[in-house]
Amino acid sequence: MAVEPVAPGTGTGEVLIDRYGRVARKLRVSLTDRCNFRCVYCMPEHVTFMPSDELLTADEIVRIVGVFARLGVEKVRLTGGEPLLRPEVVDITRRIKAIPGIRTVSLTTNGVRLPQLAAPLKAAGLDGVNVSLDSLDAGRFRLLARRDQLEAVLEGIRAARAAGLDPVKVNCVVMRGVNDEEIPAFLRWAAEEDLVVRFIEFMPLDADNIWERRRVVTLAEILQRAETLGAVEPVAEDPTSPARLFRVRGLGVTFGVIASVSRPFCAACDRVRLTAEGRVRNCLFATTETDLRDLVRRGASDDELAAVVRDAVWSKWAGHLINRPGFVKPERTMHRIGG
Ligand code: 5AD
Ligand code: SF4
Repeated sequence: MAVEPVAPGTGTGEVLIDRYGRVARKLRVSLTDRCNFRCVYCMPEHVTFMPSDELLTADEIVRIVGVFARLGVEKVRLTGGEPLLRPEVVDITRRIKAIPGIRTVSLTTNGVRLPQLAAPLKAAGLDGVNVSLDSLDAGRFRLLARRDQLEAVLEGIRAARAAGLDPVKVNCVVMRGVNDEEIPAFLRWAAEEDLVVRFIEFMPLDADNIWERRRVVTLAEILQRAETLGAVEPVAEDPTSPARLFRVRGLGVTFGVIASVSRPFCAACDRVRLTAEGRVRNCLFATTETDLRDLVRRGASDDELAAVVRDAVWSKWAGHLINRPGFVKPERTMHRIGG
């Protein structure tokens, strides 16, 4: 009789499981709520950031990630706000990568600081980066990010590739009447640059209440727009990734669609989040959080932290309710959750 291999990880075999049987293998760690952009779908123009003593210290982050690793988490993604604004980001990356059980460390960034940081991050063990880029038109970019920084982001993408970070993916949040006309242009650019672009359906996580259902450009519509360039076919995908993959045959370009609104992937969700001030969020749309920072600062042991983390994950709900009447938008906007 064949013996099932033991799950990779720290060897304890313990996993973080919720009441629906989903196992959390991925942890997204927000390093800061600060950002040097003000993307309209993510944060307000004028914003008060958290005082820095509210944020977890680098030591606290590494310790908490260690607890998650003991509980079977294998992949860590550093997020923000803008994670590259955190002065210790290289050190944090190196220390997290060294935690037993952690297989990959990646990062989601607006790209502006990649020219300086891509090489040191690579040396520290960073695997891949996702760079957010919502328009290839400088004027529209400025309206969306409220900063005139298109060239800086493109430079950041080049720097990430030159440093050997792998994969380098581009995330593009699609909003009707704003940048949806650019889908073919993005695909042509991705083909030229040999990059994977992932189009993300606009989610209700913005600050200024600009989210409306009619602003969501759905997976089906994104495919229609791609088809203006040639036949589109599905591509085999990583079952743990929220992105569905497609190829425009004539162009030879593969792209992804993250259809969080029109085709929620909650049933296969394997993620959990840690906010910059040390709270566990078991869903992007969760309306409750579990604080770890106070426990850590009051001297809790790793076993005590693990017990609290287990409970926080166990109570995860079946899925977000964006498509139900009575949906309540989370109070936190995206920059304070950590994409
Ligand atoms: N809807 C969809 N995606 C969003 N992001 C930020 N806010 C939203 C939103 N309201 C994306 C960013 C980034 C990732 C972390 O999440 O563009 O790529
Ligand atoms: Fe900053 Fe990212 Fe939010 Fe844009 S999406 S404002 S780059 S945190």
